[in-house]
Amino acid sequence: MTGFSTRAIRAASRSREIAQRPTSVPIYQTATFSAESVEALAEAVAEAPGGYAGYAYSRLGNPTVDALGDAVAELEGAEAGFALASGMAAIHATLLSLLSVGDRIVSTRAVYGSTQSLLVRTFGRFGVATEFVDIGDHAAVERAVAAAPTRVLYLETISNPTIVVADLSALSAIARRHGATVVVDSTFASPYLVRPLEHGADIVIHSATKYLSGHSDVLGGVVVGDAARVDAVRKVQVDTGATLAPLAAFLVLRGIPTLAVRMERHAATAAALAAWLEEQPGVARVHYPGLTSHPQHALASRMLRLPGGMLAVELAGGRVAGAAFVDGLTIPELTASLGSIHTIVAHAASTTHRQLGADQLAAAGIAPGLLRISVGLEDAEDLQADFGRGLASARDAAGGARPIVRAGSSPSPV
Ligand SMILES: Cc1ncc(COP(=O)(O)O)c(C=O)c1O
Repeated sequence: MTGFSTRAIRAASRSREIAQRPTSVPIYQTATFSAESVEALAEAVAEAPGGYAGYAYSRLGNPTVDALGDAVAELEGAEAGFALASGMAAIHATLLSLLSVGDRIVSTRAVYGSTQSLLVRTFGRFGVATEFVDIGDHAAVERAVAAAPTRVLYLETISNPTIVVADLSALSAIARRHGATVVVDSTFASPYLVRPLEHGADIVIHSATKYLSGHSDVLGGVVVGDAARVDAVRKVQVDTGATLAPLAAFLVLRGIPTLAVRMERHAATAAALAAWLEEQPGVARVHYPGLTSHPQHALASRMLRLPGGMLAVELAGGRVAGAAFVDGLTIPELTASLGSIHTIVAHAASTTHRQLGADQLAAAGIAPGLLRISVGLEDAEDLQADFGRGLASARDAAGGARPIVRAGSSPSPV
C-alpha cells in the first residue's frame, strides 16, 4: 500500500477516457502530458508537420490552444493557424520568424502604437529598419518597397486609430513584385469582414483579445498562413515562451461562434452613430468606412462584408473637447481596448498611442483630439443619447463654459 500523498496524486490525476466528442473544446489545464514509455515520450516531442507528433509540455503544444489556431485558420481560409499569449506576442513572434539583422520593413504609418514601438524600439535595436508609409498612396508604397530589399510589408486591414482601409489586393501585388512578405493585422476587421489571404496576404494576425473573443475578458493572439510560415512562428514561440493559457484559448473559442451575430450588430449600430455624428455641431470629421465621406468608401464596400464596428471622431475643439466628450459620457467604459460587448471610447493621444510624441502623432495622421470609438452591443438609441451628452460637454469645454466632471459609470435611464 502506498502512502496517502502518493495515492492522492495518482487518484486525482486520472482523467476519464470517453468515446463521445464533447460539443465544447475541453480545457486541457495541464502543463504536462505523460507517455507510456521513454520511447513514446521521445516520439511525442519529435517534430512533425504542423508542430510535434504528440503532446508532452504545454509550451510546445496544448490541444485547447491548438484548437483555437485551427478554428481561426478555418475561418480565414488558411492552411494553418497558431495561437499565442496576446496580439503583441503574435506580432512579435511572426516578425521574429521572418527577420534577421539588417532586414528592412515597410509598414503602414497608421499602425497600432505598440506595434510601432515594437518595430522602432525593439527591432530597431537589432538593426532592423522600418520605413513608415501612407498605404493609401500606392506609388509611395512601391517606391519604399523598391528602394532597398524589403523583407516585410506590414499592413493593418483597418488601421488603428484612424480607420484607414488598406487595399489588400493592390498592396499585396506591390509586395509580390519586390519579394516582400505581406503581414496583415486584421484585428479591426475580424475574419467576418474580410479574409486577407484571398487578397494576396501571406500571414494574417489577430489580437484575439478583441472581436474574436468579444467580451474584454481574455488576452490572446492568433497567426494564420501557410503551414511552413505558421510552423516558423510556432518555433519562435517555443523558444521565446509567449504561450497562450488553455483557459484563455477556451474563452476565445467560446466567443467565435457568435462572431457573425456580434459583428452584424456592432456594424449596424456603428453605421447609425457615424451618420448621426456627422450631422452634429462641434464634430469636425467622422472616420467610418460606411460613410460616403470616407476616402476609401468604395474600396471598403468592395473588400469588406460590412464597414465594421470601429469609428473615429475629430471634434472641432481639439484635445480639450476630446477629453470633455469622454468625461461627459455615462455608458461607455473608460478604458483602452476594443472589439467588445462594451462600447469603449478612447482618446488616442493619451491611451493607444501614448508612446508617440507630438511629431510621431502628426506623422501617423492622429489629430490631438481624435477619439476612437469601438461600438459595443448596447442599444443604439442609448448610445446616441449618451454621445449627445458627450458632445454638449465638449462644446461647453471648448467654449470654456463650465468645468467637466465625469458623470459616473452607471448607465443613464434613457
Ligand atoms: C490593431 C491591434 N493589433 C494588435 C493589438 C495588440 O493586441 P493585444 O493587446 O492582444 O496584445 C491591438 C491592441 O489594442 C490592436 O488594436
